[in-house]
Amino acid sequence: MRAMAHFLPLSRVARLVDEPRSVIQRMIRNGELATFDGMVDMNELLRVFPDVQWEDNGEFKRVEEIKAKAFSRRVMEHALPGKEVLAERLYEMSKEFAAAKTLLLHYDEVLRFLDDKLDDVMDVGDQPARQAVADLKQWLRQKLDATPEEAERAQALLAQENMMRIMSAQVTILPAGHEFFVEGNDTLLEAALRAGIPLNYGCSNGNCGECKARLVSGQIKKVHPHDFVLKEVEKADGAFLLCSNTAVSDVVVEAGVSGADDIPLQSIPTRVKAVEIINERIAALHLSAPRSQRLHFLAGQRITLTSGDIGGEYYVASCPCEDRHIELHIRRDNRPFSRHAFEDLAKEDIVRIDGPHGRFVMKLDSRRPVIFVAWDDGFAPIKSLVQHAMSLEIAESMHLYWAAGSVGTKGGHYQDNHCRSWADALDDFSYQALDTAEGPAAIAEAILAHHPDLRRADFYVAGPHALLQTLREGALARGLSPLGWHGEVIE
Ligand code: FES
Repeated sequence: MRAMAHFLPLSRVARLVDEPRSVIQRMIRNGELATFDGMVDMNELLRVFPDVQWEDNGEFKRVEEIKAKAFSRRVMEHALPGKEVLAERLYEMSKEFAAAKTLLLHYDEVLRFLDDKLDDVMDVGDQPARQAVADLKQWLRQKLDATPEEAERAQALLAQENMMRIMSAQVTILPAGHEFFVEGNDTLLEAALRAGIPLNYGCSNGNCGECKARLVSGQIKKVHPHDFVLKEVEKADGAFLLCSNTAVSDVVVEAGVSGADDIPLQSIPTRVKAVEIINERIAALHLSAPRSQRLHFLAGQRITLTSGDIGGEYYVASCPCEDRHIELHIRRDNRPFSRHAFEDLAKEDIVRIDGPHGRFVMKLDSRRPVIFVAWDDGFAPIKSLVQHAMSLEIAESMHLYWAAGSVGTKGGHYQDNHCRSWADALDDFSYQALDTAEGPAAIAEAILAHHPDLRRADFYVAGPHALLQTLREGALARGLSPLGWHGEVIE
């Protein structure tokens, strides 16, 4: 006897088997994993992943970690939902269990009734009928006594899924179709930004109304009060503020996603967390935005930095999903801000940031292989884009090429270790370091040699005009759609 049909959404499947969503999507495309209406049957999951030890991974591990750390305040705030949300999730789940138990009691009654009916047939039937009923009763007894196939694994999987539903809620954003999880005390807005999904927002504290969204299904809960007034008619239609509410159950929400042109210019005083002199030519400047005013930007964009009367424009190298942290790569050159960063800037100094600027941003619906190419310190926007793509988990595969000077002479691949650790950690991530001494044409040729067919790909290239031109021509000749080309000239 097989376990009853039980369907799980893709994001939850990815978490349960500890794989990126892109891997699950590729398995579905290749026919390795069957779905029904975008959901995966539990039996299919058990069949396709025979080696996964459900007790050992994901949510169980996290719960064990939390227990081990004796519920320290920081861990509780980060990982555990608030008390009221937790209580509501447990209540919802206990209702499901009560319904399942009621159904089981009902089936038990029906089986008893069936048994009595079969006894009646035994009493009045002829010999063949009595034999048939006896056989049927024996078969039923055997089936009811038998342990369901894969019972232990199915139980472990269901327990893990239930734990996951208590600890987090899944959110689907319409019409874009993005999915993410809300964990701990996060609001829906905080959770979306952490997942790299740039939902529309302004103040992030309930004043501007920019994050207004509509609840399509599921249950939300207000966790922060807001001054912005929603009209009664809007509320009746399901309107709410993403920055004030969290998800109690899995929810579907209609909300706007920001493009590069939708984000308002901001001016934020930040504090220097560190000036990390990576080598004689590159410094990584780490800034921290105030708690109430994090920078709203997209990966690949630039900002203007001002310290006193010295200013300069640089690409953000960190991911928008990194909360208040902003990283910039400052090349040592004659620009005033460069000299200032290398010689004067110190921890705790104030640096004003203005921006964001630029349209060299990620296409959020790309579910194809993505090729990133950086030339020298063009690595900064590419690093931000790579991290953003990783947090979105949608690219089918990622290939990073970084052309830089030989180490020691021009500064080299100054964060080579990051790139190698991405390649080590992700199955579908490749990294190759190239030498700028080869020249743009040879570099373009070397990259294209790895990708003879580019009909299903997206290219993000930050480097000199000569590289962009050669690479674009070669890529289009190999079938790349002009819409798949994203280039930023950085000389
Ligand atoms: S972002 Fe301003 S009200 Fe939510």
